[in-house]
Amino acid sequence: MSQKLLNALNDQFNFELLSGYYYLAMAAYCESENMRGMSHFLVEQAKEEYEHAMKFFEFINDMDGTVTAQAMPEPKNDYSSFLEVFETALHHEKVVTKRIYDLVDMAKEENSHATIQFLQWFVEEQLEEENSMKDIIFKLEGVKDHFHGLMMVDRELAGR
Ligand code: FEO
Repeated sequence: MSQKLLNALNDQFNFELLSGYYYLAMAAYCESENMRGMSHFLVEQAKEEYEHAMKFFEFINDMDGTVTAQAMPEPKNDYSSFLEVFETALHHEKVVTKRIYDLVDMAKEENSHATIQFLQWFVEEQLEEENSMKDIIFKLEGVKDHFHGLMMVDRELAGR
């Protein structure tokens, strides 16, 4: 495997950690607005992102690469609505999906079968993550600012 591909995988290791960091900032906003279910959902999401990062960590090590931790930009901490939180989450997941597809293309160019196989899990996971954010956005668009509706969505997300 080329150093270029290893570097790209290492960038994604860092980006998955950054994703978790973004979700924690979103969770903190929901928590500050007393939406405990939404906060719980986003904290669980952050934990999943850590697991994603660790998959890259282990794979890079298995391929005899060296993992390096990079600086992280400050996440967005302020939101004007819960809808904006989940729209931001969906936008972020679309960025992740594009990055995974680019990695697959790069791995194919190098005929790195192990990497193509490794990334397949992420291709499926991204489909799931985008769909789960879309579902929540659909519900939040429906309830708008109505308190009871928001509480119902919040209760549902507490069950994650
Ligand atoms: Fe690890 Fe939400 O992508």
